[in-house]
Amino acid sequence: MGLGDSISLADLEREPAPILARLRTQEPVCWVPAMDMWLVTRWDDVAFMEEHPELFTAATEPSFLARTLGSNMLTCDPPVHTRLQEIMQPPFQPGGRSGEFVSNELIGIADRLLDAVDPAGFDVMADYAQPLSAGALATVLGLDSYGFNRMWDWCEGLCTDLANFENDPDLAAIGERTKADLGAVLAERIAKAGNDGSAISWFVQNGATTEEIVNNVRLMISGGINEPRDGIGLVAWLLLSEPSIATAVDAEPTKMRRLIEEMFRVHSPVGTVTRQATQDLELAGVAIAKGDLVSGVLRSINLDESHWTNPDVIDLTRREGSHAAFALGAHRCLGEWLGRQEIRVGVERLFARFPNLRLDPSHEVELHGFEFRGPRSVHVLTSVGA
Ligand code: HEM
Repeated sequence: MGLGDSISLADLEREPAPILARLRTQEPVCWVPAMDMWLVTRWDDVAFMEEHPELFTAATEPSFLARTLGSNMLTCDPPVHTRLQEIMQPPFQPGGRSGEFVSNELIGIADRLLDAVDPAGFDVMADYAQPLSAGALATVLGLDSYGFNRMWDWCEGLCTDLANFENDPDLAAIGERTKADLGAVLAERIAKAGNDGSAISWFVQNGATTEEIVNNVRLMISGGINEPRDGIGLVAWLLLSEPSIATAVDAEPTKMRRLIEEMFRVHSPVGTVTRQATQDLELAGVAIAKGDLVSGVLRSINLDESHWTNPDVIDLTRREGSHAAFALGAHRCLGEWLGRQEIRVGVERLFARFPNLRLDPSHEVELHGFEFRGPRSVHVLTSVGA
């Protein structure tokens, strides 16, 4: 019996770190029957996967992502992928719509959301980080006039459908309703896109077809809201629960950027990149058959002791190169610059508004998830005596 036989998805969702540490030392390329795929847990092996899309394709068959969202940039390889990336990337760069948004609008959105929270105490995740993330992406895409809550509903509906591994018809119906509602909105937006500066108008002007826009905007909405939300919650929680971190950032506010990178490394909000072997091959001496699904575990390689010194420690002076929380290859996150700014500005505004913020001791902060991991809630009190 291999180590993989004892691994369940439920255990990985509850507490992945000890399982991944065992895999790294004992079986770094491990078949896990409960997931019907290989887990690859060492840095060098995942880096190899990411460098070789001709061996490890993103165009998996079957593909939940393609079935739910339609073919998109994350379900194809170069050169098809390269064309889509060239069209979709610019609005998410500092020189594009995102740069303008972060300079001129993000602080205002954060402050308005903070005006609306219960001044005695609230949940950072549901009451602040979630609408901030949804609102930021809605504004960059040019969908803000439909409301931040509607953006969140689309995200929830698409994610429900993406996680419907057992084909539950009720969950599938939620997915269909979401796609119909979002589809009608996108058709309207694409028809009158003009040159309004939004990302959607950029996509239209730069030659994306309607289907490409619809499918990739679905991908962005399903993948670009939960992660910045989790990042804001994680950084706020680290600052509130580890006094030495808060003291270091107070003394030198530029350390906030280091803290965000260390949060990404130690907690990896996105856990894996899943690919499919295009031929019989060997990885780290292990035979993998053509057609097998292979999951490169970013959450594990970000803690790989052969790559990092004291990997579990949040070290604001660490200089060991970039982590892998945004992946390493052709599919490296499209929204990484925007996501980082949402987290930095989101956390800075939160503590500027409530300098005496503290965790509410009547609510424990519980991290959950394997593929996507973050706090379920971060309840805070806003004044020393509250
Ligand atoms: C800030 C936290 C974020 C994290 C940790 C994160 C993580 C990742 C990772 C690991 C991938 C690679 C997936 C794979 O190769 O299978 C990815 C891809 C992607 N992300 Fe993000 N992401 C974040 C924010 C965002 C935002 C704000 C957007 C908004 C548009 C976004 C849009 C995308 C897209 C479209 C892809 C596919 C890129 C491609 O296939 O070339 N992400 N992200």
